[in-house]
Amino acid sequence: MVDVAEVIWGLATSHVPSIGAAMDRGKTEAPHWKDLFDGYAPARAWLAEHRPDVAIVVYNDHANGLDLDIVPTFGIGTADRYDVADEGYGPRQVPDVVGHPDLSLHLLESLVDEGFDLTVFQELEVDHGLTVPLSVWTPDPGDAWPCPVVPILVNVIQYPQPTAARCYALGQALGRAIAGYPEDITVGILGTGGMSHQLAGARAGFINPEFDRMWLEKIQTDPAALAGLSREELIRQAGSEGIELIMWLIMRGAMHDEVARIHSHYFVPASNTAAGVALFDNRQGAPA
Ligand code: DHB
Ligand code: FE
Repeated sequence: MVDVAEVIWGLATSHVPSIGAAMDRGKTEAPHWKDLFDGYAPARAWLAEHRPDVAIVVYNDHANGLDLDIVPTFGIGTADRYDVADEGYGPRQVPDVVGHPDLSLHLLESLVDEGFDLTVFQELEVDHGLTVPLSVWTPDPGDAWPCPVVPILVNVIQYPQPTAARCYALGQALGRAIAGYPEDITVGILGTGGMSHQLAGARAGFINPEFDRMWLEKIQTDPAALAGLSREELIRQAGSEGIELIMWLIMRGAMHDEVARIHSHYFVPASNTAAGVALFDNRQGAPA
């Protein structure tokens, strides 16, 4: 047995708010939703068999938990719980999120030592960017999500967003930080957001399936190539909100070079967004 923390899986998933609303309102069998939710089933089944001790959720706030006048490039929550934000229609009726302050503080210190100066959130309300991915993982959480969560926040909403390369490097530092946590615990890591979409402006409704398919493939096989895309190229190819995909690179950077694909699925459109899910097993030599 290892006596340090180990990343056992990585889950990349869109966080489109209407996916959460469809679940909350019992609409997942409706004709225009069924294919999307059917596409989650194999990932959910595998994840239910592989519950980690802690989950790290790399996500972005959408001006719900934070004001737009202070938007840190990278941040980390260190709280022992995070309330679900009210995004205008009352908070989603899902459990509040239990934190893991000890792991948060360890990751913070390790990442600062590596030159990633994360902003610290001792208090934080979490929006659809975090709760929808938890619902994609666990549709029926009951009174509590499957495990405590460490939120890592990324600015993807205000120019200039961090580069894809910087996100990938942060992920690699995160992987080392996790491997330096001196407790024998398992960790799942979620990279959230995307896929291609643009919510406003002349290209509102923009979706690029060819780019998304390429991204879904290379996030497993060649993340360094994705990390080489400039911010402007990402926005051109994936839309102004499609740049959320840089958060997948933080997840991927924290994993081994070789990972096994358990499942992936692509669906267009969820709201105005191309929705993707991809699940990877990070255990070396482990049978799926
Ligand atoms: C939508 C997508 C997002 O990523 C988001 O944060 C809000 C809305 C949408 O497609 O409706
Ligand atoms: Fe978003």
